Amino acid sequence: MGATRITDCIYSVGILNPNLRIFDVVMATEYGTSYNSYVVKGSEKTALIETVHNDFFDAYIENVKQATDLSKITYLVMNHNEPDHSGGIQKLLEIIPELKIVVSQAGSIYLKNIVNCTDMNIIVAKDGDSIDLGGKTLKFISAPFLHWPDSMFTYVEEEKTLFPCDFLGSHYCEPSVLDTLLLPKYKHAYDKAMLGYYTAIFGPFKPYILKGLEKIKDIDIEFACVSHGPVLTKSGFLDEVIEKYREWSTLLIREKKVIPVFFCSAYHNTTKIAFAIANGVSEIIPTAEVCCYDLNDHSIEKMGALINSCDACLIGSPTINKDAVPPVWNLLSHVDAINFAKRSVALFGSYGWSGEAFANLRGRLQGLKANVSEQDFKVVFVPTKDDLENAREFGKAFAASLS
Ligand code: FEO
Repeated sequence: MGATRITDCIYSVGILNPNLRIFDVVMATEYGTSYNSYVVKGSEKTALIETVHNDFFDAYIENVKQATDLSKITYLVMNHNEPDHSGGIQKLLEIIPELKIVVSQAGSIYLKNIVNCTDMNIIVAKDGDSIDLGGKTLKFISAPFLHWPDSMFTYVEEEKTLFPCDFLGSHYCEPSVLDTLLLPKYKHAYDKAMLGYYTAIFGPFKPYILKGLEKIKDIDIEFACVSHGPVLTKSGFLDEVIEKYREWSTLLIREKKVIPVFFCSAYHNTTKIAFAIANGVSEIIPTAEVCCYDLNDHSIEKMGALINSCDACLIGSPTINKDAVPPVWNLLSHVDAINFAKRSVALFGSYGWSGEAFANLRGRLQGLKANVSEQDFKVVFVPTKDDLENAREFGKAFAASLS
């Protein structure tokens, strides 16, 4: 891609990875991604903002050379130290051993264990600290948990440019670098990528997002040089993305409780129990939104979002080969472990031999610190009329426990 001018003293020197389809093992990247990095030139000194994934170092350093003489680089600012940004540091230090690496306090700890180099020249930046490059000032803004404890932003006031690392970014590979150059016909794809990125990376950190937005609300930003996806501009998507982050992070006060009943069923036995339990819940909390979801009939994205946003839930699984079935495990693998603690959950299902699904699911839910009902509702093989009446009572008792 080469170096791309953003302003007279800021250059994008990152790397495109259009073919990436899975990021960090768990995140689908339908539109690839980019590992962005930037050069900021002052009259006296030059800074690099982050590096790129180690796999792309050779192409990256050629981009950097297009923007600046490497001997002029004094600082490397690491707003966040995950290896997609810190992966190039080891090789960079071989070329520029005297490089001063600017990180947050938490970042200084992480970096030592990521780069495994004991004699790095580290500068710890506190909130409000600044570094003068000669007419261009790097100002550091603490932004913890956006999305790691080490995260910070860097602002260059003279250029009205913010470097927020992952924050406000997207896994979207845009070769023209600027959002204003993204073709209108691809805007829907960018929007989809941006939402997926927000959900996967920032969804667990909503209160921190609102704090981060508060910190930058009075800053004049012409360019947000994010570390993935197109650079956001005032004349492009910047305001829209900030508003979406605000909207998605603002917790709505719901009038109705949402209590989904998730289940899988091989022979409709667990299905019948699910509906009987749901009726019992509705009887006690008639205003609640209580729906049954066969996990084989709905996308995991939709079910994952629902279990993370619900007030409480019930989960039903048959036992097959001494365990719960894969769609139920898949649902629990999508739980936001950071925010699920104390969520009320109850287990139910039909089984034939010994019903290990209950204990196995309970172990996982306890690991998530959920408030798991002490009693499971279990039926051996086919539920009778009495069993279904008991299931209804079980739902009523669960609903009553929520008040
Ligand atoms: Fe792009 Fe959290 O690393």
